[in-house]
Amino acid sequence: MTELAKMDVLLKTKAGKDQTLMIKGHEIRNADHPIDNLFLDRWSPRAMTGEPISESDLMVLFEAARWAPSANNNQPWRILYALRGSEQWPLFFDLLVEANKVWAQNASALLLMVSKTTFDHNGKPSITHSFDCGAAWGSLALQGSLKGFVVHGMQGFDYTRARTVLNIPDEFHVEAMVAVGRPGARESLPEELQKREIPNDRKKLTETVCEGPFRF
Ligand SMILES: Cc1cc2nc3c(=O)[nH]c(=O)nc-3n(C[C@H](O)[C@H](O)[C@H](O)COP(=O)(O)O)c2cc1C
Repeated sequence: MTELAKMDVLLKTKAGKDQTLMIKGHEIRNADHPIDNLFLDRWSPRAMTGEPISESDLMVLFEAARWAPSANNNQPWRILYALRGSEQWPLFFDLLVEANKVWAQNASALLLMVSKTTFDHNGKPSITHSFDCGAAWGSLALQGSLKGFVVHGMQGFDYTRARTVLNIPDEFHVEAMVAVGRPGARESLPEELQKREIPNDRKKLTETVCEGPFRF
C-alpha cells in the first residue's frame, strides 16, 4: 500500500471516531529511538479550512514560544501576525510567493517571525539570535500541533519587502513566516500538493550527529 493510501485508510478510520482531518505523524513515521509522539505528530500540512482562529487559541501558541530558552534570556524573537479577513491580512499575504499563496490563502493567521540581532542589556551583537528565534518557533509549532492546528513554516516570501511593508527596523533579522490554521481536506488542494500532503521522513541520525570533530 502506498503511503497516501495508508493515509486514506487512517483518515477514514478517524472520520468515524474523532472527525479529525489531520492524521498524527506517528501514524506514518517511525523513530529509530524511543521519543515522545509529540515530536513525530507535528508535521506541516497545507490543507486548511480558512475558518477563524480565536485570539485565545493564538495566544496559547505565542505563550509556548514565549517560554523558549535564549542566550542571556534575551528573548530576541518578535512575532507579527495578521488574522485572515483583517485589514492587516493583505500586507502579510501579498509577501508570499505564488506557490505558498495557493494553499496559505486558507490559513487562519499568518505570522512573521523576526529576531533582534543585539542584546537588550548592552547593545552588543548576539551570535545566537536566529538560533533562539528558532527555538521559539519550535515551541510554537509543537504547541500548535498539540492543539490540533496546522502550523506551517515558510521561507517562500519576499524578505526585502517584508522589512519595508511591516516596518522592521535594521536591528532585526527577518527569519520566516508561518501559516496557522485548522486542518482541511486534502482534496481541497491542487493535485500536485495533494501528493505531498503526508508526513515526511528524516535523514539517519548518523548523517547529522557525530561524536567528536566534524566528519559528515
Ligand atoms: C523555516 C521554514 C521554512 C519553510 N518554508 C516553506 C515554504 O516556503 N513553503 C512550504 O510549502 N513549506 C515550507 N516549509 C515546510 C518544510 O518543507 C517542512 O517543515 C519540512 O519538509 C519538514 O516536514 P514537516 O514539517 O512536515 O515535518 C518550511 C519550513 C521551515 C521550518
